[in-house]
Amino acid sequence: MNKKGFIFDLDGVIVDTAKYHFLAWKKLANDLGIDFSETQNEELKGVSRVKSLEKILQWGNTSVSEEQFAALMKKKNTDYLTYVNTMTEDEILADVPKILHYLKEEKQPFALGSASKNARTILEKVALIKDFKSIVDGTNVSKAKPDPEVFLIAAKELNIVPEDCIVFEDSVAGIQAANAANMISIGIGKKETLKEADYIFKDFTEISTAFIKQLIKN
Ligand code: BG6
Ligand code: MG
Repeated sequence: MNKKGFIFDLDGVIVDTAKYHFLAWKKLANDLGIDFSETQNEELKGVSRVKSLEKILQWGNTSVSEEQFAALMKKKNTDYLTYVNTMTEDEILADVPKILHYLKEEKQPFALGSASKNARTILEKVALIKDFKSIVDGTNVSKAKPDPEVFLIAAKELNIVPEDCIVFEDSVAGIQAANAANMISIGIGKKETLKEADYIFKDFTEISTAFIKQLIKN
């Protein structure tokens, strides 16, 4: 039987933590007197914590000392974790369990490929940590998306060649990373934003098991 490697981003794909990242970054930016819009937030999706803060400071034409930068990073994460700590299984996005269940039934290996250093904490909170064959996150990579590193490591850990891997992503940077890794990219979100993806769906309710079956067969 054909085996494909399925790789899931976390934030905005499995759980809607993208909204918590937004709230925490907005508070931090506004406290510094910097405006922060939803459009700008789109540019931060999939982007590492360090790069995100650099971008916000750049947008606000603000520079800070190294110590201040470290303190701001810590502040953002502390604030973000207050949201994360309230999370339960209820926050798993609709029909994600349906797809994970189907992959298990079909004996298709799947991994997590996330930029977040909080990935394991979140997966524990929503009780999915045991389901993934491999978890590659912000603590395992040196190059942030759009670099393909995170997905290439995940493919290696799944023991599947990149060309046979399928990536689910909600961010532009993540779709670019999947494409750069020569994987099939599936965008979860808006067509206008994720146009570089091979396939785009609003969310997992639009993804049928028949579609997944086709991906496995091809
Ligand atoms: C990505 C998010 O998954 O992880 C980004 O889309 C976030 O918004 C990045 O900045 C890093 O996450 P964390 O949890 O380590 O700050
Ligand atoms: Mg994401």
